[in-house]
Amino acid sequence: MKKIAVLTSGGDSPGMNAAVRAVVRKAIYNNIEVYGVYQGYQGLINDDIHKLELGSVGDTIQRGGTFLYSARCPEFKEPEVRQKGIANLRKHGIEGLVVIGGDGSYRGAQRISEECTEIQTVGIPGTIDNDINGTDFTIGFDTALNTIIESVDKIRDTASSHARTFIIEVMGRDCGDLALWAGLSVGAETIIVPEVETDIKEVAERIDHGIKRGKKHSIVMVAEGCMTGEACAQELSKYVNVDARVSVLGHIQRGGSPTGQDRVLASRLGGHAIDLLMQGETARGVGIRDNVLRSTPFDEIFRADEHQFDYNIYELTKELSI
Ligand code: F6P
Repeated sequence: MKKIAVLTSGGDSPGMNAAVRAVVRKAIYNNIEVYGVYQGYQGLINDDIHKLELGSVGDTIQRGGTFLYSARCPEFKEPEVRQKGIANLRKHGIEGLVVIGGDGSYRGAQRISEECTEIQTVGIPGTIDNDINGTDFTIGFDTALNTIIESVDKIRDTASSHARTFIIEVMGRDCGDLALWAGLSVGAETIIVPEVETDIKEVAERIDHGIKRGKKHSIVMVAEGCMTGEACAQELSKYVNVDARVSVLGHIQRGGSPTGQDRVLASRLGGHAIDLLMQGETARGVGIRDNVLRSTPFDEIFRADEHQFDYNIYELTKELSI
């Protein structure tokens, strides 16, 4: 292994820069040249590929976003388009590709390793959604979680002053982890996630019960993959007469300086990706489980039945918000 490339793809997440830094520095430490592909798969097609040095990743570990830029590139699903990208990798003599992103980004890497067996591919889970199999945590999840907590703590101040119910809509695509972990952390009355069927009438009764026992405010955490905050407010208004407000936190959840946990995770996973490439592994995603680094074949990662939603945390949240 003499030359590798690294790209960030899909929705960005805090800690992607720290992961790129780890990939670059560990590769150079092992005498491997590293190329950065700018703008994800789009940059691969456009040959936006440039050599990275040790200094290229200096002063990046603390920065949110991704200095390599990111893009969603649905065209990469087309075989002819992919061939252009593969030709560019060959042109630069790239033998290994590290893809940092979500499972859509992993699918592109899997196709490359199927269609061009001399290029090894490894995926690093970078998304705030925490929705990738084969790892307990994805890079960016912890930072997004802390951003939600900070925002909801502020919302609680005004919620208490006005004795209001707030419905907070958070990101996560089809995964309820951000809503679940944030809900527990802010003491939400109810968490509405795609993984658990929710009876809105029951939610309304909980809110009503809380008001009757003197609660100053209520927080309902809704995962975007289940319903919008507005839809939730409308449903609730059928059963309970409360002065509810909706806050959609939106893309603020994707920004900001990565937390210590995300920097450490990104550095460890980035280093492990280089270990795998040097061992000749391909078509695998790195991850962490019970604090131990591991890797899983892409095929297994794509199997939907392994989802890691923690029903114990969900139950605990219910028990703690009576
Ligand atoms: O996958 C990350 C994510 O932020 C999701 O939580 C959200 O549904 C989606 O990306 C938003 O995508 P975009 O930034 O393209 O609107």
